[in-house]
Amino acid sequence: MGAFRTLDDLDPDGKTVLVRVDFNVPLRDGQVTDATRIARSLPTIEALASRGARVVLISHLGRPQGARVPELSLKALVVPLAGRLPGRRVVFAGDCVGPEAEAALANLGAGEVALLENLRFHPGEEANDGDFAAALAALGDLYVDDAFAVAHRAHASVVGVARLLPSAAGRLMQAELDNLGAALETPKHPVMALIGGAKISTKLGLLGNLLDKADFLVIGGAMANTFLHALGAEVGASLCEPDMAASARALFERAQATGCEVVLPVDAVVAAKLEPGVAAETVPVAQVPPDMMILDIGPATAAAVSAKLAACRTLIWNGPLGCFEVPPFDAGTNAVAAKAAELTRAGRLFSVAGGGDTLAALAHAGVAGEISYLSTAGGAFLEWLQGKTLPGVAALEEAAAR
Ligand code: 3PG
Repeated sequence: MGAFRTLDDLDPDGKTVLVRVDFNVPLRDGQVTDATRIARSLPTIEALASRGARVVLISHLGRPQGARVPELSLKALVVPLAGRLPGRRVVFAGDCVGPEAEAALANLGAGEVALLENLRFHPGEEANDGDFAAALAALGDLYVDDAFAVAHRAHASVVGVARLLPSAAGRLMQAELDNLGAALETPKHPVMALIGGAKISTKLGLLGNLLDKADFLVIGGAMANTFLHALGAEVGASLCEPDMAASARALFERAQATGCEVVLPVDAVVAAKLEPGVAAETVPVAQVPPDMMILDIGPATAAAVSAKLAACRTLIWNGPLGCFEVPPFDAGTNAVAAKAAELTRAGRLFSVAGGGDTLAALAHAGVAGEISYLSTAGGAFLEWLQGKTLPGVAALEEAAAR
């Protein structure tokens, strides 16, 4: 990762600062059901507002595909945002460019905050259209990118504006890059990567990259079934991708070359269907009955992973190890999460987790507050794990080099 400017390198006093946030939050019946991303943006908003900036927040919400979709209006976020910025006036503009945005900003004072309407109501946002980027940039004097969660999208508000205005990373972007960098680029070894989830087809690139970086690659979730199948085990009625068997075997071979130990389940919790309270049993992975599905790692696997984790200094976690939403298939994820929290609390482990399901699983295990760093990103976290250059991060680096 190259160098980028931060808020400490800006003089925002009296300036209008466009801040790209990721307010792509879940909504139900017009209410925000998880305000984490709003809360995590506050340090940047406060840092700028308290230094006399007019803070102009720009974000997308959902995937309206260039059309105005009333259900995806950012107006729903004004109350939760204003409630977290006591003493600051927060205004909303019904468009992110043009006369409505300009009128809202004309009345904005120093230390006040404007939230502009959903960027993706304009097709120019996702197309990274030059005119749209220029229209956005015309609203501000400075640009701050605090949206690591959308840094994998080469959109106008992510890369286009960064090329047109003096640019810096916000506090959340900085925290994401610092913590994720500390976990993957300059980690203390041994490093464990814990990767769960349903399909290896969606995580092949990520697994390949982690083989080069981690000392232990623990594979859980339904993805592990494909690996077990590739090694000749019968996985019964479990979710499995037989056509990925060759890729799974190739990963094993590469692991031998890189010296990364791939850790697969040795036992599994199986049931005939995925339902709360269904009769479940624990079996060795070599003895999965043909009519049963693997729905969680077993206790012997959880204990083996926990023992290896105790010897590690860094943990990168993406993906639950079982169907944690449906007890009792949460037990394996809960056990490993508790161990990660215990080691982190004791100062023996630097733990980083990312991805919506992973954060939900850690919250379900009651340890979300005890992991060293929780990324706000989903897709961007996965692309970062793959070792890809994220356009939003590259744009900040280019801006710093100009
Ligand atoms: C996310 O929630 O992962 C980001 O906001 C990106 O959203 P997108 O996948 O719709 O671009």
